[in-house]
Amino acid sequence: MYKKINIVITGATSGIGFQTCKLLSSQEFNIIGTGSTKISCLDARKKFKRDNIKFFDCDLSDHNSIKLLSQKIESEFQTIDILVNNAGKLFIKPELDPKGIEKTFSVNYLGHYLLTRLLLKKILTSNCPRIINVSSVAHKRGILDLSQLNNTNLTAFQAYSRSKLSQILFMKILSKKLESSNITISSLHPGLIGTNLLSKNGFWGKLLTLGHKLVGKSTDSGAKNVLYNIKSENTHNMYFSNSKNEKLSNYANDINLANELWDISAKLCGLSTKLEI
Ligand SMILES: NC(=O)c1ccc[n+]([C@@H]2O[C@H](COP(=O)([O-])OP(=O)(O)OC[C@H]3O[C@@H](n4cnc5c(N)ncnc54)[C@H](OP(=O)(O)O)[C@@H]3O)[C@@H](O)[C@H]2O)c1
Repeated sequence: MYKKINIVITGATSGIGFQTCKLLSSQEFNIIGTGSTKISCLDARKKFKRDNIKFFDCDLSDHNSIKLLSQKIESEFQTIDILVNNAGKLFIKPELDPKGIEKTFSVNYLGHYLLTRLLLKKILTSNCPRIINVSSVAHKRGILDLSQLNNTNLTAFQAYSRSKLSQILFMKILSKKLESSNITISSLHPGLIGTNLLSKNGFWGKLLTLGHKLVGKSTDSGAKNVLYNIKSENTHNMYFSNSKNEKLSNYANDINLANELWDISAKLCGLSTKLEI
């Protein structure tokens, strides 16, 4: 029997993630989408007619919620072929997660680190395992000082850039740790896309969203860039901007920093630094 590809997409209730699900739902995929709340998941599910998509709620700043999500996925699906770490948020007013970690870093990077590690065994049972991190061109402005992960004095853009740089460093170090496997890990900038990324930030969020939607491209354009990483060959350990391979900055290529980030992330998530697969 023809086997469908099981794909997990975080942040699938809105924007680029939602549109990516739309493009995939008419194809050979079983889609597991996530959103931050039960309501956003129910609302998103209603917009799909086919039965090849499920939504699970998971707050990526809450490690218990992530563990619950991975348990649900583990019990329902024998294999996960592709994980797209897409969910993202930009906090105009600095916040901390329940563990005291700055929340942009927590949602955009650390939550995905934990989810990826929890699902990794399952992903590696696939014939075509793939992990995609939806990062941003903003990573180029990122500075990562690992002693400052609880610092709420960063500007919103500094915190966002740091989280996006961390996603790229995660790709680098995970690729190195899994070099003997057949996995494909890549990251991307989806383009400037008019979405709700800035919206849940009070008055300023609403105002900035108007501007973002005015200058940004369509979610379809962003989703097609994600689709490129889902479907293309020879993307391993690479970063794509608008579906074109781009060289990384020296900072994003710093494997020692990536290693340190890995170790601290493991500790923060209560995991071994050693990858047992
Ligand atoms: N839009 C751009 O111009 C642009 C540019 C570069 C990179 N990106 C990246 O593209 C990705 C998608 O963003 P988007 O622009 O499509 O934004 P969006 O429309 O706001 O979608 C963000 C998604 O992330 C989810 N999310 C937010 N906070 C979460 C949390 N605490 N836990 C779990 N899920 C959470 C949201 O779920 P709920 O709706 O259920 O809260 C939503 O599904 C992000 O990683 C973003 O950084 C966007």
